[in-house]
Amino acid sequence: MRVLITGGKGQLGKDLARVLTEKGNYHIISVDRGEMDISDARQTWKVILDNKPQVIIHAGANTNVDGCELDPDNAYLVNGLGTRNVAVAAQEINAKLVYYSTDYVFDGKGSKPYEELDPVNPQSGYGRSKLAGEEFVKAFCNRFFIVRTAWVFGKFGNNFVKTILRLAGEKDELAIVHDQVGSPTYTYDLAQFTEEFINTSLYGYYHATNSGTCSWYEFTKAILEEAGTQGVKVKPITSQELSRPAPRPAYSVLSDRSIRLNGFKPLRPWREALRGYLEDVKRDG
Ligand SMILES: NC(=O)c1ccc[n+]([C@@H]2O[C@H](COP(=O)([O-])OP(=O)(O)OC[C@H]3O[C@@H](n4cnc5c(N)ncnc54)[C@H](OP(=O)(O)O)[C@@H]3O)[C@@H](O)[C@H]2O)c1
Repeated sequence: MRVLITGGKGQLGKDLARVLTEKGNYHIISVDRGEMDISDARQTWKVILDNKPQVIIHAGANTNVDGCELDPDNAYLVNGLGTRNVAVAAQEINAKLVYYSTDYVFDGKGSKPYEELDPVNPQSGYGRSKLAGEEFVKAFCNRFFIVRTAWVFGKFGNNFVKTILRLAGEKDELAIVHDQVGSPTYTYDLAQFTEEFINTSLYGYYHATNSGTCSWYEFTKAILEEAGTQGVKVKPITSQELSRPAPRPAYSVLSDRSIRLNGFKPLRPWREALRGYLEDVKRDG
């Protein structure tokens, strides 16, 4: 099967290539901004039509949440219009399209896990731009998977786990927000789930995170414990104390209903995934 991955140099993009390579049976075309800038409609069209993949896994995005708040036009250009460009070309060659979206499409004011068709109400420029991408996929593609995920960490990029481990080497105390709750997600697990569904016609919306929930504060404590880091104090603070340009959803828990009802296995518990990630990093360097 010919699979084209966008955002191939990103943390999810790299784990997608890793998983598809491990499985065999895939001809992988991995592209990033250099080979195919998704905000360039002509280039996107040409690369996709030249390669004629059967599946496009669209993991490329502007993921800088505060950057999107400060420059909403660029967020819309890349995450909205860039996704439209990918979707239009995917439809032209009748490819299946996978689009990763985010918990930020919800307002985070809920108290029970968000289901796939719950009303969206993004509160940030990033969330609005990713929702625009969803709308374009739905409008222009017949065969799509829209996969909302959250709190992503992987071996191949900057993420919260790496930041905490770096800061723990520099400071005696870390101040971490305790009033935002979500589900951490290891890119390797998300890539494995992706490999399962691209071989099916079970199209539609999915919410895919590692299972279980925690606050950033609890996640930090777990990272330090699992990494065997001692002597660093973790102080819980509120989101208000950590003033940032873009608002973050307070409650980001996503229901795995579509995963279960379509007969897939929910992703493993986040703490197990974290342990697996730290082992992978230790083994592979
Ligand atoms: N990270 C999270 O916590 C999180 C949470 C929910 C959903 N998601 C979604 O999951 C997907 C993968 O996220 P990730 O964490 O793997 O992101 P990532 O590590 O930031 O990778 C994104 C990749 O897309 C590339 N890119 C940016 N602008 C582009 C453009 N105009 N044309 C082509 N490529 C471009 C980036 O290149 P540059 O480095 O050159 O910019 C980068 O290599 C994204 O759709 C994201 O919105 C992520």
